[in-house]
Amino acid sequence: MILKATDIRKTYRTRAEKIQVLNGVNLEISPGEIVVVMGPSGAGKSTLLHILGLIDNCDSGSIEFEGHVVNMTQDLSSIRARKLGFVFQYHHLLPEFTVLENLLIPQTLIGTKPADAKSRGLDLLNFMGLENRAEHYPSQISGGEKQRVALLRALVNSPRLVLADEPTGNLDLGNSVLLLKLITNLRDEFNQSFLIATHDRTVADVADRVLSLDCGKLS
Ligand SMILES: Nc1ncnc2c1ncn2[C@@H]1O[C@H](COP(=O)(O)OP(=O)(O)OP(=O)(O)O)[C@@H](O)[C@H]1O
Ligand SMILES: [Mg+2]
Repeated sequence: MILKATDIRKTYRTRAEKIQVLNGVNLEISPGEIVVVMGPSGAGKSTLLHILGLIDNCDSGSIEFEGHVVNMTQDLSSIRARKLGFVFQYHHLLPEFTVLENLLIPQTLIGTKPADAKSRGLDLLNFMGLENRAEHYPSQISGGEKQRVALLRALVNSPRLVLADEPTGNLDLGNSVLLLKLITNLRDEFNQSFLIATHDRTVADVADRVLSLDCGKLS
């Protein structure tokens, strides 16, 4: 088992109201599994991914990676950098850095040698047919290309699990199909696991398991 989340609960409190978003979510993900979470806008999909990606806190519940319970007071950044890859709903590439540099930064964080980081970055860009975009800035590439670079960035450190929030959200059909092909290739070749939040039925079609987030619970 890569991930086991048990009884995850999350409430947002604003001055006006209390929004109970996650109400006892349980989830297990095995190696090489693509799990898709669907649910209407506002159902809590991004909230769930941020919590499982150790980007946001939950109020209660436990998360295990590869059999180890994550201690929320420990250094989470090392687990985030080494075991997890995150594709944000809005790609979040760093605008001041080139495409290639965006792929080098996560590797620098875990101490990869610069030459190895560069060759890994270029290999991934090649794999995606983006080698001629390496020196472009995010503002100089298309939406589909940005989304593909964002997925590559999540993969650079060979994470055990990639969490992707609406990875096809801003893509046309052709680009969606390309991205999904990459995801299924990675599962088939490297036993890569994915948890994907989406509204998109075509994403659900490649999933090993489709769950729906409803009233704060997965079913
Ligand atoms: N920081 C916050 N403070 C208060 N409420 C929040 C906060 N973040 C999210 N919410 C609320 O929590 C609910 C779940 O939001 P979330 O972004 O997880 O939904 P989602 O399923 O990802 O939606 P979408 O499909 O539109 O991306 C929404 O009602 C949202 O307004
Ligand atoms: Mg969302």
